[in-house]
Amino acid sequence: MYRVAVLVGSTRQTSSNLKLARALEKLAAGKLAFNYIRIDNLPFYDEALWDDPPAEVIRLKREIAEADAVLFVTPEYNRSIPGILKNAIDWPSRPYGDSVWSGKPAAIAGATGGVSGTAAAQAHLRSILPMTGIALMGTPEVYFQSRPGSIEDDYTIADERMRTNLSIWVDRFSDWIGRFAEPREATEELRKTA
Ligand code: FNR
Repeated sequence: MYRVAVLVGSTRQTSSNLKLARALEKLAAGKLAFNYIRIDNLPFYDEALWDDPPAEVIRLKREIAEADAVLFVTPEYNRSIPGILKNAIDWPSRPYGDSVWSGKPAAIAGATGGVSGTAAAQAHLRSILPMTGIALMGTPEVYFQSRPGSIEDDYTIADERMRTNLSIWVDRFSDWIGRFAEPREATEELRKTA
């Protein structure tokens, strides 16, 4: 089992991206333990704040550092990622030389009501992340068009073909993480989230 830090680029409770993350978590039960990382209480990036770093920034860096892998689940805002997610990527990449992203296996997913399924946002994210030193999985990709009922209340993906594809994606992500990290024992603490 691997511990995955999950960063969702939307903070609203009814977020389709949070729902997609929950659906992936369900498909990954017993393989990946998701830890949802809070990003809505971070200050905007300010280099001067490193003189006395805010507790939220320290906490964010620690939670990333402790994870075996990272999953970004992003909405698409004007053909890019939301500013809140970019801010949460910038903080842990600093101070210079002390990025906690370095060498961390990662993957991307995203949901939108639009037919593109966040393809443009994910392309932007793929151009940003390599600068942080993160080890980003290339394929398979997740482009999810969110419709009423496409994810059920218990976070089951309604469409069988999509469910199968996402299940394969979970396995591939798990394999990807295995290239970088040793699996953890499925302790009670991890089982709680998986
Ligand atoms: C959007 N949305 C959007 N959708 C899309 O497919 N391409 C886009 O470029 C945009 N641009 C955009 C800009 C802004 C400022 C907002 C607020 C929204 C729609 C967006 O993807 C949709 O609202 C998602 O449902 C947001 O994700 P959550 O909050 O449901 O996770």
